[in-house]
Amino acid sequence: MKALVLAGGSGSRLRPITHTSAKQLVPVANKPVLFYGLEAIAAAGITETGIIVGETAAEIEDAVGDGSAFGLRVTYLRQEAPLGLAHAVLIARGYLGGDDFVMYLGDNFVVGGIDGLIERFRQERPAAQVMLTKVADPSAFGVAELDASGRLIRLEEKPARPRSDLALVGVYLFSPAVHDVVAALKPSARGELEITDALQGLIDAGLPVGAELVSGYWKDTGNVTDMLEVNRLVLESLRPAVEGTVLDSELIGRVSIAPGARVTGSRIVGPAVIGPGTVVENSYVGPFTSIDRDCTLADCEIEYSIVLRGASLRGVRRVEASLIGRHAEVTPAPRVPSAHRLVLGDHSRVQISS
Ligand code: G1P
Repeated sequence: MKALVLAGGSGSRLRPITHTSAKQLVPVANKPVLFYGLEAIAAAGITETGIIVGETAAEIEDAVGDGSAFGLRVTYLRQEAPLGLAHAVLIARGYLGGDDFVMYLGDNFVVGGIDGLIERFRQERPAAQVMLTKVADPSAFGVAELDASGRLIRLEEKPARPRSDLALVGVYLFSPAVHDVVAALKPSARGELEITDALQGLIDAGLPVGAELVSGYWKDTGNVTDMLEVNRLVLESLRPAVEGTVLDSELIGRVSIAPGARVTGSRIVGPAVIGPGTVVENSYVGPFTSIDRDCTLADCEIEYSIVLRGASLRGVRRVEASLIGRHAEVTPAPRVPSAHRLVLGDHSRVQISS
């Protein structure tokens, strides 16, 4: 079995973070979301992995390399334009050959990995196998309809009037039977070759398509609240480790301080993770906070937040439920004149509490 990981796409829903970074590299607990997927693939015993890349190819290739850090053998496949998930299968056909494959969307996060899904596929050998999960906003997903016996009968891509609240999770298993269906697909109304249409094609041809319900799922629906929540979930099982320098400080609960980080005169209440090269001085870092590498926190309080690489916060309290982008700076305004001074990137969102 091979893996086909999709890491193209522009990530419009996570702006402004994705203006300057591939959406698959948005960190959860200081680790790019894509890496969790690659680890899940390796854990399921798969080695040969094709990664579909688009305009952010250089950034993805830089982060993943040849895949050996994950125990994978990675081949990059270039998709010239984001023409749909089934288009990705189309261009990967030569690479996939006659093998079964798991298609994994690089911006999806599945708690608990994919071993169970793959195990079931290997035992039952359907033409395809999908995972479904209940979501609050089904019209942002592919939506599944099941019959009374729980069999998958219909799939619709981002329907205005969803027939259920069961969304297709971005992890699919396929037998090579999918290639003939994909080859015959026509672009949808949004101009893409849809994987939901390919699955529907298999169902219409009378081939077995299995579906199983999972919980613990996240994707970048552009909802920062969800992102903070998945960060919380991952931090819940954080392994504490203090490898950096800690002076005159109090660490409470599960805290991870990376090598090269420096914490002085501060109080950190876990679960929280502080990345390499980050400096925390005279500050409070509260539960469910991920501070990425090379950040500076001085005289501030922060909790339930994600701070990306190179950002600095000085003299601000208290920051909560926030997502702070790479190299962003947050400081107090001078006393006079009393005004907010903002330099915000396109699509930024700010809430001011005074
Ligand atoms: C894609 C699929 C959709 C699926 C979703 C899961 O949507 O088309 O069926 O539910 O991934 O992440 P997209 O990411 O293109 O919005």
